[in-house]
Amino acid sequence: MSAVVLIGAQWGDEGKGKITDYLAEKADMVVRFQGGNNAGHTVVIDNQTFKLHLIPSGIFYADKICVIGNGLVIDPKVLLTEFDYLQSKGIDTGNLRISGNAHVIMPYHKLLDVLEEEFKGEQRIGTTKRGIGPAYKDKASRTGIRISDLLDKNKFAQKLAYNLKEKNLFLTKIYGHQELNYDEILQEYLQYAERIKPYIADTSLIVNKYLDEDKKVLFEGAQGTLLDLDHGTYPYVTSSNPIAGGACIGAGVGPTRINKVLGVVKSYTTRVGEGPFPTELTGSMGDLIRDRGGEFGTTTGRPHRCGWLDTVILKFAIRVNGISDIAFTKLDVLTGISPLKICTGYRYRGATLTEFPMDLTVLAECEAVYEEMPGWQEDLAGITTFNELPAAARDYINRVEELSNVPVSILAVGPGRTQTIIRQTIF
Ligand code: IMP
Repeated sequence: MSAVVLIGAQWGDEGKGKITDYLAEKADMVVRFQGGNNAGHTVVIDNQTFKLHLIPSGIFYADKICVIGNGLVIDPKVLLTEFDYLQSKGIDTGNLRISGNAHVIMPYHKLLDVLEEEFKGEQRIGTTKRGIGPAYKDKASRTGIRISDLLDKNKFAQKLAYNLKEKNLFLTKIYGHQELNYDEILQEYLQYAERIKPYIADTSLIVNKYLDEDKKVLFEGAQGTLLDLDHGTYPYVTSSNPIAGGACIGAGVGPTRINKVLGVVKSYTTRVGEGPFPTELTGSMGDLIRDRGGEFGTTTGRPHRCGWLDTVILKFAIRVNGISDIAFTKLDVLTGISPLKICTGYRYRGATLTEFPMDLTVLAECEAVYEEMPGWQEDLAGITTFNELPAAARDYINRVEELSNVPVSILAVGPGRTQTIIRQTIF
């Protein structure tokens, strides 16, 4: 198996960074294919915590090529801050390749993200305010600025002039904001271009070459299935396609090249921002899980909404991603909680639904149906094999496998690199 797509099976924040980091060690190349710095990956190496938003987690391994694919929107300022951060930690960024076709997040995107959310009032999405949606909007409108445009000063100046003329009209006439200054942005971004230039490449070509040579390529998804623009809980979604199919579009590889899809599933559910959440725990149990699980955004610091594991969502994620293997994370967070609840269906107007509803207004009315399982008290931190787990923890995992019909191939019992139980090899 040489091409594995790793995706989040819930609303993001499933602990993908840790699993990516583990698999990156086995891979020859790690590729990001969508999103931008709305993502936040935390990796713990030798008791040191690293937080990345844009650069693939594979960068911590000196011999891996890391790719930022065409499907991303890149804030150059954040990219350069990550370069500096990594370099200050002694980590080399020389193996990074950035697609010239990726789009650039401009200052007006960030400003519009804030103003649009304010304008929406009660209808707001709760975005990360990083300019993600407005940048993808320009991409779809075919007015966006691509990374390769930064290399040609005249072309960039021309594109910026057109875009800024339009955006300044929006800023002043609709939002009553002051105009942004053309020269300041031009100079700022031309400086960024100088530093980014050496990293720009035809990444689709590079990735496909690796696949031709039967090298191991890991496609690292950001966000999660329910945040997918097409299949998620629209409109409370991000503006890209975090599902497995997004890897083909956002990296420039055909679907026939993908061998496995690894769905990262957290042992409970969380969500950030607005929108319905059937298994949400608003009382002390939710607070306990939030504190234990450190459920505060890597990107925004916002507290995550927490709830029980929802296998209706899991089944849906398996369907739209074609998940072949599950990586089950943060099992240790559930230690000491008993009974544990697993949602197996939704009650909706007297009926029981077992498939995730397509319509958000239906989801908003759904009440979770649970089955209960006994919890365990033992500390899981030092456990390295499935059989060493307490019987109740094994039963819990076995039940997840029964309900989802997909093997739990990886289990995370703590944040560290070694706190990982491998039941089936992915690479
Ligand atoms: P945006 O991606 O900033 O436009 O935000 C759209 C929605 O996606 C909001 O509800 C965000 O909270 C959510 N979101 C974006 N990135 C992440 C992530 O990495 N984890 C969890 N939620 C996210």
